[in-house]
This record gives sequence, structure tokens and C-alpha cells, in this order.
Amino acid sequence: MSNDERPGPGHGQGPHNGAHIDFEVLGPALERGAELHLPLYEQAAAWLRELLVDTAAAGDQGVDRVLDIGSGPGVVSCLLAHAFPAAEVVAVDASAVLLERAHARAARLGLGDRVRTHLAELPDGLDALGGADLIWSARVLHHVGDQRAAVAALAGHLRPGGLLAVTEGGLAARFLPRDIGLGRPGLQSRLDAAGEEWFTGMRAALPGAVDDIEDWPAFLADAGLRTPRTRSFLLDLPAPLSAPARAYVQDTLALGLDLYGDRLDEDDHTTLARLADPDDAVGVVRRPDVFLLSAQTVHTGRA
Ligand SMILES: C[S@@+](CC[C@H](N)C(=O)[O-])C[C@H]1O[C@@H](n2cnc3c(N)ncnc32)[C@H](O)[C@@H]1O
Repeated sequence: MSNDERPGPGHGQGPHNGAHIDFEVLGPALERGAELHLPLYEQAAAWLRELLVDTAAAGDQGVDRVLDIGSGPGVVSCLLAHAFPAAEVVAVDASAVLLERAHARAARLGLGDRVRTHLAELPDGLDALGGADLIWSARVLHHVGDQRAAVAALAGHLRPGGLLAVTEGGLAARFLPRDIGLGRPGLQSRLDAAGEEWFTGMRAALPGAVDDIEDWPAFLADAGLRTPRTRSFLLDLPAPLSAPARAYVQDTLALGLDLYGDRLDEDDHTTLARLADPDDAVGVVRRPDVFLLSAQTVHTGRA
């Protein structure tokens, strides 16, 4: 599953409703999280440049159109505009609210003339997008019922020699030592297990859900793409964390509590609630031992 979603069932007023996550409610947190992960995305973008530009005789001019599929608030769309300075970047998402954030961000960064937005919902709605030299899609395709078909649909928009980069999998982020002096040691592994169970249910409930082996390089190969590459990128922020990093960890634990808290036993539920509480002295906003170790995996294939 995605390394920063721990979705789960529930019926509250939070950013989800059963299997459905309301990404618009999560907009500010998504933007803060992506900003915190910028060093990781910068490494990924440098690698994509190596694969695309540095090997292309045409140099930068070889990449003049980039699609960011499921861009959310457009943090990576803007990063890609910097990494590929000759390119138009199109931020594509099913949420008009998040695309508005992407639009505002691009304007703030002086990229308004090169980053534009396009409202579309996968698996349909791609027809009007046109072709691209690079298609980036991070932590989105697992929200589509037929992931294999979605990869094939995206591959169909690559220009000859173009690259599809799909970020899925990676590792569940780590925030806390094994024993935090609160509740039963090993909480994070149990949170991961609860999140994985939710994830399976979320996928099964998606329209057109296909029960498939989640082999991303195989999906890329099936789509007719060649020269498969996979690399993982690390964000390693040791304790003590900065205020923005603490806020991200707090956002993530609060989301977990909302989404899969009811899968935990009472002791773990209480511990998670205290950790996520910004006013609790043992919460992640205040405690000294919180760190952030996160890895995202990028799978690529070439047309
Ligand atoms: C976890 S966020 C990832 C955002 C961004 N790619 C990132 O890595 O920070 C998932 C994004 O996918 C979008 N999304 C989810 N399902 C979608 C679909 N079927 N079609 C288009 N966008 C979708 C959501 O609106 C949200 O912006």
C-alpha cells in the first residue's frame, strides 16, 4: 500500500467514508506532506532526467510535455517543471479543489505559464490529454479498480521514446522507536497490519476492482513498455524533528486513527489517540524521539 495512507473503515466526519477517501479534505495535509518529501522527489526527478534527457541526443528539448497523473496539490508537478525547464507540465486530477491548489502553487512559484491543470478521473477521462514525453503517477493508481488496465491506458499516451514512471509500494513510513514507553511495544507494526487489511478492503470495493498480483514492472511490460527500471528513494529525517515534520507525522497518525482506528485493540487505540493529540505531552508534536524514515519506489518503462 501507499506509505502514507493508513485508510480504514469508519463512519465519522473525517476524510473518509468507508472505503472512500475524501482527498479534498486532505488537501492541506497532502500539500504539507509532499513539501516535506521534496528532497526525495528531487532525487527521483534527477533519476528520470538521467533516463530521459541525459541519454537523449536532443537534450532538454526532448522533453516538452509532462503529465502528472493524480497530481493532487501539484507539489511534484511544479518540481517536474523545474527539472524539465523546456516542458509544459499538466497536473491531472479528479478533484477540482486540489487542482485549484496546484494552480495557485504554480502561480506562486512563477510557473503559471508552464504548469496547467486538467480535471479528469481515471480510468476514463484521459482521451483529451494528448501525448507526453514523461508521465508521472504517484500513489494514485491503487485507487483505480483495474491497475493493469490503468497502466496500459497511461502508456498509450506516451510519445515514442517517452517514459512512464509509476510510484507505488515502497515502505510503510516509520516514526517511532519500538518501545515508546506508552502502551505495548511494537505499535507501528500493528498499525501497518491494520492499514494493510483496510487497504485490501478499499481495493475490493473500488468500481471494476480486479484481484490481480500487484507486480508493477509486469504491468508496465504488459503495456508494451521496455527497459524496465525500479528504484527506491529515501527520506531520512532523524529526531528531533522540525515543526513541519512533526505536523506531517501528526497528520498521518490522526488519519490512521480516523481510518483504521477501529481495527485496533483498546490499548493500541488509546496509545494512537494520545500520540495524535497535539495537546498531549506524550503526543508526536511534543515528544523528542519522533523521527521520519520513508521510502517510495518508482517503476519506469519506456515506449
Ligand atoms: C495520495 S494522493 C497523491 C497525490 C500526489 N500524486 C502525491 O504523491 O503527493 C492521491 C491523488 O489521486 C487523486 N485520485 C484518486 N483517484 C483518482 C482517479 N480515479 N482519477 C484521478 N485522480 C484520482 C486524488 O484526488 C489525489 O489527489
